[in-house]
Amino acid sequence: MTEFSGFDTRAIHAGQDPDPATGAVVVPLHLATTFKQDGVGGLRNGYEYARSANPTRDALQELLASLEEGTAGLAFASGLAAEDTLLRTVCEPGSHVVLGGDAYGGTFRLISKVVSRWGVEHTPADLNDPDALRAAIRPGSTRVVWCETPTNPLLNVADIALTAEVAHEAGALLVVDNTFASPYLQRPLTLGADVVVHSTTKYLGGHSDVVGGALVVRDEELAAQLVFSQNAMGAVSGPLSDWLVLRGIKTLGVRMDRHQANAERIAEFLLGHDAVSAVLYPGLPDHPGHDIAAKQMSGFGGMLSFRLAAGEEAALRVCERARLFTLAESLGGVESLIEHPHRMTHASAAGSPLEVPADLVRLSVGIEDVDDLLADLAQALG
Ligand SMILES: Cc1ncc(COP(=O)(O)O)c(C=O)c1O
Repeated sequence: MTEFSGFDTRAIHAGQDPDPATGAVVVPLHLATTFKQDGVGGLRNGYEYARSANPTRDALQELLASLEEGTAGLAFASGLAAEDTLLRTVCEPGSHVVLGGDAYGGTFRLISKVVSRWGVEHTPADLNDPDALRAAIRPGSTRVVWCETPTNPLLNVADIALTAEVAHEAGALLVVDNTFASPYLQRPLTLGADVVVHSTTKYLGGHSDVVGGALVVRDEELAAQLVFSQNAMGAVSGPLSDWLVLRGIKTLGVRMDRHQANAERIAEFLLGHDAVSAVLYPGLPDHPGHDIAAKQMSGFGGMLSFRLAAGEEAALRVCERARLFTLAESLGGVESLIEHPHRMTHASAAGSPLEVPADLVRLSVGIEDVDDLLADLAQALG
């Protein structure tokens, strides 16, 4: 039933066969924490205790693996819980991590303030420059090259295949945070990445009503280590979260098409506006990552950022004046959001090499009528 090749078909059916007991066409929400055994050790379909495995989570995990074209998917309580489990599984004291010079502030905080306390060092590097990446790598101790593409919030694009090549030369794993693109637009495992990370809170959930995270891997040995850690560390997603992400993913394709159609119109509008000094959107032909994005993505997504010619105060004013764009953190939901990364989502990167410009505004373009979105931005900028 789950062997279909079309992405949208898999989004609706992979891991989601009708329930064998009742025929329910939607995966049941299994809230049970424990499962009756038929004699000691006589588990039914492998279920014993819900931290170790739960049928609703299993359905989501199978779906994630199918969409990312991996061998195993693992669901966690948040994107950061997924990242933490991954880093503490593949690193040990003395390990080293190279991360793109522009990554989600929370990822940087996790690596620089938490994992570092266990003797894991890190170096930020420009992933668009293979020589800079090679120079940052410490042969023998670099375990992970951490790549976000497109990045949050600067929408920089890294060449996944090239980054994988350089990481693998040094025996490191390439981890790609695919949150911004979603598997609908980009499948890093097919380009050479070893691990895909998601904040399912974003496009996969898609409705701003669930916090979750995921890992998807190709290698079966790494998958087994992560399955062990998922249970041993316990940062698992809850069944209601799994169920909401399963439901969200069913419409991922149609939502992404609309997110990006709206984002393209908004990028063009902002380009022509006097108050705007730069528009950061990989779909624009003069974006420095446009050609790479066109090569490795099947669309440019619904996230864009722009800079205000008049500086930080102007950026704050636009955020505060927007009405249809809600001033809020997070992204990837059906409703449009606006935020000031320097003071909000990326405040934890202040004073670090990953600090973001203060004149920057980030938009998560929703799926509302684009004319209403354009009118709101016009009044907010006006
Ligand atoms: C690109 C990216 N990765 C990871 C995360 C962390 O995910 P979560 O908030 O679900 O822990 C975020 C959150 O904003 C993000 O934007």
